[in-house]
Amino acid sequence: MSATTVQWQQAIITRADRERMNSHRGVTIWFTGLSGSGKSTLAAATEKVLFDFGHHTYTLDGDNIRHGLNKDLGFSFVDRVENIRRIAEVARLFRDAGIINMTAFISPHRKDRLAARAMAGVGTFIEVFVDCPIEVCEQRDPKGIYKKVRAGLITGFTGITCPYEPPESPEIHLRTDQMTILQSVNLIIDYLARHRLISLRLGRG
Ligand code: ADX
Repeated sequence: MSATTVQWQQAIITRADRERMNSHRGVTIWFTGLSGSGKSTLAAATEKVLFDFGHHTYTLDGDNIRHGLNKDLGFSFVDRVENIRRIAEVARLFRDAGIINMTAFISPHRKDRLAARAMAGVGTFIEVFVDCPIEVCEQRDPKGIYKKVRAGLITGFTGITCPYEPPESPEIHLRTDQMTILQSVNLIIDYLARHRLISLRLGRG
């Protein structure tokens, strides 16, 4: 069925209704960076703080999503584009549901990230550049994947044989080789609070 034969159904409960009930905005925190730069770690740590504040949160993580929703996709150029296109759509649904959603995908193409941003209202797409030199990512190698790349078992790997296009003006830029996890998370929470995307008054402890 083509999109032209289905009609958009107007919801009775709006995003604004949900945001009012949640006391925070529906917002996407989009982590981007090399494999091993710290995206998943920071997304999980940020979500924990927000959740403990009493906020409604959900994290979409590259490795997990590739086991389910995107298990038909690999790492070719077109598959990565489709990977990010779907995630941008899911992120839109979460914003609409009034939820703070973290996304942790390499998302190497600037154009794809800009398209994801364009789907969000002004100020509700927070791009976090998880910046770490590839040498440090390779040293960390939490999944042993760089070892496999060097052994020639994986081709077309981001940062080595496939490009990563760093964001030009991310809302938040973190050098994870120079900062602790806590420092990075504090910067993100501070940004969200200063821009009134979250309500610290909800805090439980
Ligand atoms: S993205 O480029 O399409 O955004 P995504 O974040 O979903 O990538 O998945 C990246 C993860 O897949 C990496 O952290 C790594 O563990 C694994 N991976 C497997 N093959 C590759 C590859 N060729 N390039 C990058 N990551 C890969």
